[in-house]
Amino acid sequence: MSDKAILEIDGNKYEFPIITGTENEKAIDIKALRGATGGITTIDPGYKNTGSCESAITFLNGEEGILRYRGYSIEELADKADFLEVAYLLIFGELPTQAQLDKFHGDIKAHSHVDEDVKKILDGFPKSAHPMGVLSSLTSALIAFNPSSVNTDSEEDMYQAIVKIMGKFPVLVAWALRKREGQPLDYGDDSLGYVDNILKMMFKKPNADYVVDPVVSNALDKLLILHADHEQNCSTSTVRIVGSSHAGLFASLSAGINALWGPLHGGANQAVLEMLEAIKEDGGDTKRYMAKAKDKNDPFRLMGFGHRVYKNFDPRAKIIKVAADEVLNALGVDDPILDIAKGLEKEALEDPYFVDRKLYPNVDFYSGIIYRAMGIPVEMFTVMFALGRLPGWIAQWKEMRNRKEPIGRPRQVYTGENHRAFKAVTER
Ligand code: ACO
Repeated sequence: MSDKAILEIDGNKYEFPIITGTENEKAIDIKALRGATGGITTIDPGYKNTGSCESAITFLNGEEGILRYRGYSIEELADKADFLEVAYLLIFGELPTQAQLDKFHGDIKAHSHVDEDVKKILDGFPKSAHPMGVLSSLTSALIAFNPSSVNTDSEEDMYQAIVKIMGKFPVLVAWALRKREGQPLDYGDDSLGYVDNILKMMFKKPNADYVVDPVVSNALDKLLILHADHEQNCSTSTVRIVGSSHAGLFASLSAGINALWGPLHGGANQAVLEMLEAIKEDGGDTKRYMAKAKDKNDPFRLMGFGHRVYKNFDPRAKIIKVAADEVLNALGVDDPILDIAKGLEKEALEDPYFVDRKLYPNVDFYSGIIYRAMGIPVEMFTVMFALGRLPGWIAQWKEMRNRKEPIGRPRQVYTGENHRAFKAVTER
């Protein structure tokens, strides 16, 4: 392939370099476009063809169903690594040695205290508040309690900001759940691993000990790893673009949480379970819902199906489907909606509408079934996604700041009124 692209406009030819990534991905570098052409821009709603940055964190090949963090396959990481190792890998670029991992965990624990006054903010929310709204608000509120700005030219400053949020975020997640359930707010237990501690913070009852079930802990670890990064998706792009204005890490993360909340993105895991429940209540009539999903006059979509990038099986969905069977068996849970999900998947994979559009189950199709078996309420599903995505957001923010990327500021093509004279209200 040529290493340049030629654009011809009104007989004038402009040359643009084609850059190649380490996995041989090609992109036309149009940085010089407007300057060279006297102001012509490009338009690409939804950024379906537009790369916003170069990144060395996550590689994704949607046609072949490949996902790798820093070069390691998601299958191998889900099988062999734990979430904290994967977080370190994403953020710092290499798998940690035992000493690095111990230090990372120790520093996170040292920062896991959340100011008692944050509880007063939480108090102001109604119990019925969606925990994603609570989580984004409390993440934002952390700025007020940690007001010193991070010197992003200092690796030590960056590191301190990172361990701070890695320590405090799970506390906020647990508090969002406990508030909803009317349970007293608590702190973690430093004797436990990162994920076990999260489970204890979420589920410990005030009048009983909490013993971590290894089946639940392993399942959560795997789910968090599978959600940990996914290159330039909607919430990650949000984190990078907010951070590109030099807003701080916590502010960027809070914006990312809100982007994740939408049902077309992370909110799909809640929407999938609600859909499967509705199908069950409706007597398990999957055909009716398949027909609704295909009907262009009906806004209903088969939640948990389709992906902007994967035009093949989402590799994470394959792992989660197997895990769902294992976890439900190990916990002795017989959930009829797992059968509905499997039935729906089978029908969709044989249906020309889904086959032609390359719509496969995505990461969220089966994750909710596992969360539910673990005793996590439906409204918390997207919060669990945010917990998993935290290291990815941090890694992407750090990379963006380290590379000194310019402020994100897209162009537009204006389609409104031309200049017109103002009319006084009496003349309109
Ligand atoms: N059910 C029915 N039809 C669908 C679905 C679906 N879940 N997804 C896409 N389609 C159809 C569209 O109607 C469109 O059909 P057309 O070509 O006849 O108009 C075609 O497939 C392409 O769909 P787009 O919306 O253009 O694809 P896009 O890449 O913009 O959207 C998205 C991707 C948002 C994920 C979409 O597939 C969707 O809404 N899925 C359901 C929500 C979901 O599961 N989201 C989670 C994604 S994973 C994540 O963010 C963690």
